Amino acid sequence: METQVKQGLSSAEAMAFEDKYGAHNYHPLPVVLDRGEGVLVWDSEGKQYYDFLSAYSAVNQGHCHPKIVGAMKVQAEKLTLTSRAFYNSVLGKYEKYVTEYFGFDKVLPMNTGAEAVETAIKLCRKWAYDVKGVAQNEAQIIVCGENFHGRTTTIISFSSDPDAKGSFGPYTPGFTSIPYDDIDALEKALDSSPNIAGFMVEPIQGEAGVYTPAEDFIQKAAALCKAKNVLFIADEVQTGIARTGSLLAVCGNCTCEKSCEKQATYTQPDILILGKALSGGAYPVSAVLADDDIMSVIHPGQHGSTFGGNPVAAEVAIAALEVVKDENLAQNARKLGIIFRAEMEKLISECDLVTTVRGRGLLNAIIINDTPDSKTAWNLCVAMKDNGLLAKPTHGNIIRFAPPLVMTEEQLMECVHIIRNTILAYQK
Ligand SMILES: Cc1ncc(COP(=O)(O)O)c(C=O)c1O
Repeated sequence: METQVKQGLSSAEAMAFEDKYGAHNYHPLPVVLDRGEGVLVWDSEGKQYYDFLSAYSAVNQGHCHPKIVGAMKVQAEKLTLTSRAFYNSVLGKYEKYVTEYFGFDKVLPMNTGAEAVETAIKLCRKWAYDVKGVAQNEAQIIVCGENFHGRTTTIISFSSDPDAKGSFGPYTPGFTSIPYDDIDALEKALDSSPNIAGFMVEPIQGEAGVYTPAEDFIQKAAALCKAKNVLFIADEVQTGIARTGSLLAVCGNCTCEKSCEKQATYTQPDILILGKALSGGAYPVSAVLADDDIMSVIHPGQHGSTFGGNPVAAEVAIAALEVVKDENLAQNARKLGIIFRAEMEKLISECDLVTTVRGRGLLNAIIINDTPDSKTAWNLCVAMKDNGLLAKPTHGNIIRFAPPLVMTEEQLMECVHIIRNTILAYQK
């Protein structure tokens, strides 16, 4: 049978094709994006929008950043993939760069966030057996309720989201769930068994609705883990790479462009998980970072991925991380985040439709004054789309706001104007 690719689809045709030929595992806003540059995207008919989601915080450096795309093009024309059966001439350079950048001895390169989470789980379990002395198959990892760490079979096994988890069993054992932001529950869980190997946590729960814990939760949790000889695993797939106004959310209030132990607010995780903006959204690149005493438990044949550590990914990640420093993205996210939340507070004081704004840096959310199963947040996002700004509800009545970090203050104020006008008009 002859198959031809249809070129130049209209938005309506593109949506119809996805509906007919694609699995229905997402519920996208009805907009078909065709082009992006910086904080802006355009649909197939040429209508312009502000991107206020950044592909769930992958496009921190802005769409099609010339430095990142340039690095990708150069490497793509030279060598794309060797597998790890052979060395490639870029991976070592990237490994040195990324480990020095984040302050760890070693990195294990992967592609997607979920793969990196799986990697961290395996690393933690292996450490428990080889180093801590836990009996085989007995290791337990503590996780938090309402977590989001990806969608593989093992990861959904410890999800509390019925959509993510339901009807996909049997589930992987070895996880204990505690409420998020509950230091007493963590202490109790750590004391519950000698087989606890790790505590895996998002420093801010993005998918749950940008749930931001008490200021000292992360520091206290890491200190408890250290005292109990349990690995503290930070999943910064969404919060990392300047999104929350510091290089990592575990940097706390530190504004420097480096994760550094000198800062009183910095918490060094035993295992750090990165993805998304590690490539600026240009390519699937994820990473697990740890020091030698942990990473050395992994030996040849025990973990890997055909694409993990490929030369294109390595060049793209170096460029993406350089952009974060060159363009002071953490500082910009911090500054604009303060302005954004202040503007949303003003809006809250003027209307009944929004009850709360929360977040850090440019990872924020507003809570809509309606039930989680209502359509209000969705309808508002559709109305904002019509007005030229793209955002998406998470968990029903919560709207996440996460624009690219290259946004200017002027652009942010224009976006605030769109959000404000849309919400005030909706109320009428
Ligand atoms: C905290 C966190 N971990 C892991 C993931 C999974 O990443 P991916 O979708 O690249 O598998 C996500 C994705 O949103 C995330 O937010």
